[in-house]
Amino acid sequence: VTETTTVRIDLGERSYDIAVGQGALSGSGPRLREAIRREPAIIVTDERVAKLHLGALERALDGAGIAHVRIVLPPGEETKSFAHLERLLNAILDTRPERKSCLVALGGGVVGDLVGLAASLVLRGIDYVQIPTTLLAQVDSSVGGKTAIDTPHGKNLVGAFYQPRLVLADTGVLDTLDRRQMLAGYAEVVKYGLIGDVAFFEWLEANGARLIAGDAEARRHAIVTGCRAKAAIVAADEREASMRALLNFGHTFGHALETETGFGAALLHGEAVAIGMVLAFELSAARRLCPPEDVERVRRHFAKVGLPTSLRDVVRPRWSARNLVDHMHQDKKVRDGRLTFVLTRGIGDAFIERGVDAREVRRLLEGEIAA
Ligand SMILES: NC(=O)c1ccc[n+]([C@@H]2O[C@H](COP(=O)([O-])OP(=O)(O)OC[C@H]3O[C@@H](n4cnc5c(N)ncnc54)[C@H](O)[C@@H]3O)[C@@H](O)[C@H]2O)c1
Ligand SMILES: [Zn+2]
Repeated sequence: VTETTTVRIDLGERSYDIAVGQGALSGSGPRLREAIRREPAIIVTDERVAKLHLGALERALDGAGIAHVRIVLPPGEETKSFAHLERLLNAILDTRPERKSCLVALGGGVVGDLVGLAASLVLRGIDYVQIPTTLLAQVDSSVGGKTAIDTPHGKNLVGAFYQPRLVLADTGVLDTLDRRQMLAGYAEVVKYGLIGDVAFFEWLEANGARLIAGDAEARRHAIVTGCRAKAAIVAADEREASMRALLNFGHTFGHALETETGFGAALLHGEAVAIGMVLAFELSAARRLCPPEDVERVRRHFAKVGLPTSLRDVVRPRWSARNLVDHMHQDKKVRDGRLTFVLTRGIGDAFIERGVDAREVRRLLEGEIAA
């Protein structure tokens, strides 16, 4: 058993704790007792996670004497939809909630995003707790209060900023995650090093493989470091007026790739972001902002742990630079026809560049595709 570390998200009266560590779930009774203001707690999870980890949560609630009910959704990105939101809202209303009722989101980013949005809507806002069960959710989606569903117009286009009352990140639940999902989450971990913390990137170069293989202490350190980095950014810019956009490093490219591959199993979000971060480094190097050695160093690290690093690593017939750039224009990150990118001066030194010409991006992608 490793220790549990608490990271505080400072947002005035919307502040909350993230508890990170092995056993954070089974030992969560007292924290849940404090966070949950009205019973029964309404657990929302997906079928897959229910089989693996719902028992531990229910035992923790029982141990703390907290009554609970459960709503189990199908797993997968399709669940972040209007149809499932409607079903979920009705299922919650069936439990006759009051203002102080509390949803408990047990699952990955899909469950977390959907439940957070539902919490913001029921009675114009009830409580919720996040218990993220993927590495991606522990280090990224459960922190910061962005909630959303997808629509036919695109991903995450309908949502709200709505903060949870508590986040519990148990590194132990990651043991049941498959390697590919683990690596996809790991890409978002590396993102924090690349954005603003070269020492953390160095630590990951030395310890990343250990973390992926299951070392609880390495996981705790990485999740805590990631959450602290995100906490600092979110505290400074909760609603993404400026600096929060740094968290989109690699994401403009990544979303374009995901749009092209249909947001499915062909390319997971984290995999797309890994390739996207390498491309952001390349774009920065092409502009002579960043040393080419840094591009290679990032690429080497991803390749070493088993993440894709280029368009060529994705099995598909053929990429079109033109389609990819078109997707970027449809993304939320466009203003006045100019693309906004997070670029970098080197590892740990990212910044927001608002005026990137689409032709420059297209040239880079054409070069990648031709190579
Ligand atoms: N709100 C934000 O700030 C934010 C940030 C990043 C991503 N996201 C969103 O997060 C979503 C992706 O999240 P995700 O990668 O966690 O996907 P996910 O929730 O779909 O989980 C991936 C798969 O792993 C399974 N799973 C979850 N925990 C498991 C465990 N412990 N053991 C075994 N299997 C487990 C799930 O059932 C699912 O099949 C996307 O919809 C994305 O838009 C949101
Ligand atoms: Zn992401």
